[in-house]
Amino acid sequence: MININVNGQNHHIDADPNMPLLWAIRDILGLTGTKFGCGVAQCGACTVHLNGEAVRSCVTKVSRAAGQQVTTIEGLSLSSDHPLQLAWQEADVPQCGYCQSGQIMSAAVLLKENPNPTDEDIDNAMSGNICRCGTYIRIRSAIHQAAKMQREGAKS
Ligand code: FES
Ligand code: FES
Repeated sequence: MININVNGQNHHIDADPNMPLLWAIRDILGLTGTKFGCGVAQCGACTVHLNGEAVRSCVTKVSRAAGQQVTTIEGLSLSSDHPLQLAWQEADVPQCGYCQSGQIMSAAVLLKENPNPTDEDIDNAMSGNICRCGTYIRIRSAIHQAAKMQREGAKS
């Protein structure tokens, strides 16, 4: 049995320690917001947070998450009202949507570390998240908007 905390809830998972964390999240816990894209750490669709850091859950063994805090898109905010989620809706970012939870999870780490990112900062931080629909311009603009909301929220 492996104990992991996902989105604030403890789970005892009966799984091979070598199982990808992504399988545990999706197939055992039923949290399907995190997507499988490439399976080899090249696309970012499976991005989740492990103790606040962005990781590719397709290549992270579930055993690495034992006793740690995992956050998925479902747990990013209580009411889907993280500034990124609000900005994403405002800018109507998704096209097919498949890559988007991974994009938001990567962007959330960027904004935590850098509350006022430049275009270059955004492009560097997001370069590992591929969007086959080419929504990059809207992603960048939504990140700027979310950063602004976050800064204004911090002032009030
Ligand atoms: S599915 Fe994990 S990086 Fe592509
Ligand atoms: S919105 Fe379709 S892959 Fe990004």
